[in-house]
Amino acid sequence: MLAQKIKYRLPKDEGLGKVRNNLFIKSKLNPKNYLKNILSISEKYLEQQFTNGQLEEFYSRIKYIENINNTDKIIAGFVNQYILFAKEIYQRSNKHRDKNLFEFISKEDSSIKIIWGDAYNVLKSMDHESIHLMVTSPPYYNARDYSNWSNLEEYLKDMRKIIEEAYRVLDNHRVFVFNVGDIFDNDNIKTKSVWGNRRLPLGAYFIKIFEEVGFTFVDDFIWDKGEVQSERHKNGSTPYPFYQYPMNCYEHLLIFHKHRLDKTRFPCPVCGTLKVNGNTQSEVGIQSWECKNEKCFIRSKSNRGKRFSLKSIITQAGQNDSNVINLDIIKKWRRDIIKFSPVIKINSKGENLLGHTAPFPEDIPEMAINFFSYPNELILDPFAGSFTSAIVANKLGRIGIGIELNKERFKKSIIANINKKIDAKIKITELDY
Ligand SMILES: C[S@@+](CC[C@H](N)C(=O)[O-])C[C@H]1O[C@@H](n2cnc3c(N)ncnc32)[C@H](O)[C@@H]1O
Ligand SMILES: [Zn+2]
Repeated sequence: MLAQKIKYRLPKDEGLGKVRNNLFIKSKLNPKNYLKNILSISEKYLEQQFTNGQLEEFYSRIKYIENINNTDKIIAGFVNQYILFAKEIYQRSNKHRDKNLFEFISKEDSSIKIIWGDAYNVLKSMDHESIHLMVTSPPYYNARDYSNWSNLEEYLKDMRKIIEEAYRVLDNHRVFVFNVGDIFDNDNIKTKSVWGNRRLPLGAYFIKIFEEVGFTFVDDFIWDKGEVQSERHKNGSTPYPFYQYPMNCYEHLLIFHKHRLDKTRFPCPVCGTLKVNGNTQSEVGIQSWECKNEKCFIRSKSNRGKRFSLKSIITQAGQNDSNVINLDIIKKWRRDIIKFSPVIKINSKGENLLGHTAPFPEDIPEMAINFFSYPNELILDPFAGSFTSAIVANKLGRIGIGIELNKERFKKSIIANINKKIDAKIKITELDY
């Protein structure tokens, strides 16, 4: 069987420390035989969840826990291994999965990973829920020099297909940060004339698509791009009514969450057993559980067991010193209208300095990665352009992966851009898809 390396990377076995510390749990139980204890209480549920072959694989993975002699660590180890394993079983079930692609992505090195290909084809072949964060800006609808779309509807249709696959590939209870600007143009459906130009609220259209695909729209940062470089829309030479409209000087940074309702049973973070019952959902798409182990270390006053969800495990398990976000970044992003400079790409002679049409500034992936991922996780930009997201991911100790369609056109400038921005020791690995 293919070695499964894409990890559902909960921060180490001690990762549950905070969840448990928050509850002031310190088990006084004897660690000897505690793993056996978990297994005997959970056996029935493990058998429901996994086939015999899968169970054997799982038991061999948790064998090392027998040698741990601290009950808290035994519980954390078991819970983490279980979550990882249940995720892997689910990941393997994409019928379009491509083994080469899987091995390329999951190979554990710190290289920047370039996948040359079409985002739809590549995503389609990736494992379910195998990426921890996505951050991107889509190709421009009206970038006439390399756009394939005859009208707005065609463009949005293509984007929807890609967003559907992105939803499947993004891990559960994780985030997609999507940068898009509203543009001044026409749709090429009802009109092609300049007089038909109007504000096309692409941000709004994309929100609708994301929501229909299953994402939850959570927030919209308005990126204030300041004074625009070009004056071309001002129509200064025609200073009369009906000829004036403002230039684009803002873009959206849309924040979407994925909450797929997952009925997979998860172990109680307190006692580690799978003797838990599903509760009514506290939020749409989020299954919560209640511990039914009468011997669990904490019970409420009314003798109810611990309640928890996978989302709370993910969001709280990483609250340790190594994951504290730099306070300057938190302060910088406190307001939802935020000003930082766009990348200047055209010099005074009108030459394109970067060899690429539309890089976004590092501020965008820097926020996304700091706010919505843990170190060592997999960060994907499906429209990678100059690979800004992957470069920043790498700088922040994550694995940066990008998909880019236009190899012929951009390869040289992309490689030069990456080499300029990262440590010479970091490798670039490439896959043609
Ligand atoms: C707006 S740019 C992304 C810029 C990027 N955020 C950066 O900082 O450089 C969009 C990129 O998507 C690429 N692209 C367009 N269609 C694509 C597709 N179907 N699959 C993958 N990449 C695509 C374009 O070549 C372009 O480089
Ligand atoms: Zn319990």
